[in-house]
Amino acid sequence: MKVSVIGTGYVGLVSGTCFAEIGHDVTCIDIDPKKIDMLKAHKSPIYEPGLTELLERNIKAERLHFSTGYESVAGAKSIFLAVGTPSADDGRADLKYLRAAAIQVAQNISDDAIIVIKSTVPVGTSVEIRKLISENTTKKFHLVNNPEFLKEGSAVEDFMRPDRVIIGHQDDMAMKVMEELYAPLVRQGNPIYGMSNLSAEMSKYAANCFLATKISFINEIARLCDLTNADIEEVRKGISSDKRIGGHFLYPGPGYGGSCFPKDVKALIATAEDHGMDLKIVNAVEEVNDEQKSYVFSKVEKHYGKDLKGKVFAFWGVAFKANTDDVRETPAIAMARKLIGAGATINIFDPVATENYLQMMGEFKECEGKIKAFETKYDALNGADALITVTEWREFTTPDFAEIKKRLKAPVLFDGRNLYDTKKVQAEGFKYYAIGKFIK
Ligand code: UDX
Repeated sequence: MKVSVIGTGYVGLVSGTCFAEIGHDVTCIDIDPKKIDMLKAHKSPIYEPGLTELLERNIKAERLHFSTGYESVAGAKSIFLAVGTPSADDGRADLKYLRAAAIQVAQNISDDAIIVIKSTVPVGTSVEIRKLISENTTKKFHLVNNPEFLKEGSAVEDFMRPDRVIIGHQDDMAMKVMEELYAPLVRQGNPIYGMSNLSAEMSKYAANCFLATKISFINEIARLCDLTNADIEEVRKGISSDKRIGGHFLYPGPGYGGSCFPKDVKALIATAEDHGMDLKIVNAVEEVNDEQKSYVFSKVEKHYGKDLKGKVFAFWGVAFKANTDDVRETPAIAMARKLIGAGATINIFDPVATENYLQMMGEFKECEGKIKAFETKYDALNGADALITVTEWREFTTPDFAEIKKRLKAPVLFDGRNLYDTKKVQAEGFKYYAIGKFIK
């Protein structure tokens, strides 16, 4: 099937590349010529395991093309809108890129095109976009919502083996085309659910906000464990063997970040507000997460006192989670700003996210000259007062503790991801702090 994908961000690029991999003829379109040039040179603008190999293979097989123009839309049976819907200042999803792309698509489609909103969009957006498209074309079209549930770091795998595929639609023909498109991905029996466009839009927000709720819930319980001497690791085991609760997304940490949860939580709150409703649970999820981002800092303050002048802290990891170079809304932002605000400086090491982080932190005047990047995780420790683990990269999970001790001024470890075994770290002579773990 001929497919066009508008937007080469995480969702668009992974979807386009994976559709090519399963045999479709795909053109990815982006208004950014730099990105398109990179992609044409077989280079991925994002770090995502497995993506470069797929890009290479499918470009060579001539199933995957890139363009800054919309010409390919005319020959495409399905056209995916996968542009960003970032948070506007008021927390609402900003739909300007989606509207602009929809107009361009409308002006280029052929009769019976299936236009698919893959971007995460507030419930009701399909009504507005349908109207906008019909104002810009005389051709017959079908509008589908097909939200994407992929996770950064395992995006290719998630796309290829979806837990489910959701198709919001108004007519059977659109559903049939989408079933044909996704057939190779749901062969193992993963469900493909047809529903209304509005339910599809809501499903995406409900899923992300529910997952964010699990994280804020476990973070809050972890904080209570710290106050009561219970141990969150034991508690997680104790609760997650109950199938109704499950074992996923119950890991306490420095607060959720990334391009989706913070933005989607805010957007759902705003949607509820627009309907005169106060979304109490989701509001609390956001509040707890904001507090959580300062939780490691509060432990540092407790250890050293309020004045951190002259202190140096080594961050292991700055990405918002492992296996990505994405630093959007990473807890490493608030952590660094708080520490620097109290007089400290930061050494950082991250396997892939350093450059993105330094560039982003350049926005904060107070951080200028206070963050130094290092080539190895051990070098970042040289002369530092303590190590703080921020991201759960695999290479941080079994370090050489003797080496850490040798490099640090004193063996102090703030484990923002609960990576280490308390007894082991203590036996190595460390003063150890973690999130909700019982430490004698
Ligand atoms: C998320 C959704 O999982 C995905 O379905 C959606 O399409 C996009 O948003 P992503 O942002 O890539 O994906 O990251 P995810 O792995 O879900 O993690 C989000 C944040 O929660 C990270 O900051 C992570 O560190 C944190 N997290 C996750 C925890 O703190 N504890 C957990 O147990 C799980």
